[in-house]
Amino acid sequence: MKVLCFGSLNIDYTYKVEHFVQKGETISSQSLQVFSGGKGLNQSIALAKAGADTSHAGAIGTDGRFLLEQMEAAGVHTEHVAVLEDVRSGNAIIQNDKEGDNCIILYGGANQAITREQADSVIGSFAPGDYIVLQNEINELAYIMQKAHERGMKVILNPSPMDEKIKTLPLEYVDFFLLNEVEAGQILETEETEGEILADRLLERFPGAAIVLTLGSKGSIYADGKQKIRQKAYRVKAVDTTAAGDTFTGYFIAEMASGQTAERAMDLASRASAIAVTRAGAAPSIPLRKEVEEYVPNL
Ligand code: RIB
Repeated sequence: MKVLCFGSLNIDYTYKVEHFVQKGETISSQSLQVFSGGKGLNQSIALAKAGADTSHAGAIGTDGRFLLEQMEAAGVHTEHVAVLEDVRSGNAIIQNDKEGDNCIILYGGANQAITREQADSVIGSFAPGDYIVLQNEINELAYIMQKAHERGMKVILNPSPMDEKIKTLPLEYVDFFLLNEVEAGQILETEETEGEILADRLLERFPGAAIVLTLGSKGSIYADGKQKIRQKAYRVKAVDTTAAGDTFTGYFIAEMASGQTAERAMDLASRASAIAVTRAGAAPSIPLRKEVEEYVPNL
């Protein structure tokens, strides 16, 4: 099956800081690095590195051509990425602290200039049964979901970053949700934080979907109408957690699209994201399949 990732492409400006800047405070950073990023781009690169036949659709400005080069180098087909003359590429200002955690400010730029004509043309070149992977960093998401569903594609939604718009989407068309416990709580409008309970409630709400709930150091849970799988997290020393979730999503979906079991997909995705956390940056931190398969967990 082919996989289409219709999503954001960002230029990530990553500042290494002692601690995240507080309200009213000015701090100096220890370094600035510029990486390719964006949840869409990261997931496309993870999909391709995992071995999926991956196409990316989205939009950049002329300042973002290096993003295309980096996707192509990873094996992603980029003919469905529009290069716009009159708008900047999306970008992200990322603070990365000494624990490896981050906080991010997004500027949407070209990611918010997707047109329905582009969506129609892209989705028209995929077939029933192909996968479409979506996040929440582009406009026209509801339209894209509707058209992909009508086309018979499998719809994968990573509702990140979470905001009120997610609740207005046709979530009944989603075949796979990949989300964390905070996003799950917001979709369900509950204060509940227990992973098992959230997974059950998501399944009750979306009985036709499969749920992949990531729980940080507590691992992750896969649940569908027939089975529930609990996957441990592989423990590593974090350098930069940016794109760890995207790496998990890309590896998990690549395995499912190639007909592997959910159990195998969950384990491979956990290993891949553990490696990503030990490296700086977004897309550049995503490991090759060979590295993931040879990874010896340090439990
Ligand atoms: O998931 C990580 C990504 O979120 C970063 O690459 C940044 O661009 C934001 O989109």
